[in-house]
Amino acid sequence: MTNPTIETMLAHRSIRKFKNEQIKTEVLETILSAAQCAPTSNHVQAYTVIQVTNPDVRKTIARICGDQAWIVLAPVFLVFCADLNRLEAACRRHGKEMVQGYAEQFIVATVDTALIGQNTLLAAESLGLGGVFIGAVRNDPQKICELLDIPEHAYPVFGMCLGYPDDDPPIKPRLPLEAIHRQETYTKERTDTLLDAYDKTTRQYYRSRDSNLKDETWSHQMAEFMSKVIRPHMKAFLHDRGFFLK
Ligand SMILES: Cc1cc2nc3c(=O)[nH]c(=O)nc-3n(C[C@H](O)[C@H](O)[C@H](O)COP(=O)(O)O)c2cc1C
Repeated sequence: MTNPTIETMLAHRSIRKFKNEQIKTEVLETILSAAQCAPTSNHVQAYTVIQVTNPDVRKTIARICGDQAWIVLAPVFLVFCADLNRLEAACRRHGKEMVQGYAEQFIVATVDTALIGQNTLLAAESLGLGGVFIGAVRNDPQKICELLDIPEHAYPVFGMCLGYPDDDPPIKPRLPLEAIHRQETYTKERTDTLLDAYDKTTRQYYRSRDSNLKDETWSHQMAEFMSKVIRPHMKAFLHDRGFFLK
């Protein structure tokens, strides 16, 4: 069973190489307006999306992100911020003081931002564009805040490159559905059997790509990734921003 929406979703792959073709303003506005229709916790809409066009600023962001060239070369680069500032203004307008620093507010704002982010990419893909999330903006989130004038009670969750694809990478196989879909309770999976099978699938995928061929499996990749401390500065950074204090 399928339809154009499902087909677009099943065809997703991150795009990091773009044609030298601009995205028309009305196309980007259509994408963002559609993305804004994502569900939002209690209708808070706790996000702000900053479009960065200045080439020098893009170069600096690319450097912060470990020299990801596509941040400079993509026709559009967006920074998605979790943002409580409008909500604070709403409180002020009605003589209330916004409670601050609760982990719950951090979760609400971050989840809202993730939802509009994925909706943005999906809407773009439905119009023949492609793109990639850039979590690496959190390599130095303080510097990103300074560069983009992001105030307290807001923080950059991820960036996103968008453009017309100049690449046709294969689709990265996901875990088998039974690994993530359970009935009624958590019920432990047969993890070893599952990983054996998925490692086989992912090894084949990594061996058959046109570029960046490697002999790699998902479990090995995850073992490397999950046994390293990544961005340990985030806790103190979020604290300073007014998030995640209690
Ligand atoms: C929050 C988030 C942050 C990401 N950050 C980066 C990034 O900084 N650079 C990059 O090239 N890809 C980044 N990605 C893309 C993932 O690597 C990619 O989605 C994943 O490997 C699955 O591949 P696919 O999107 O092609 O299916 C990010 C994805 C997400 C959801």
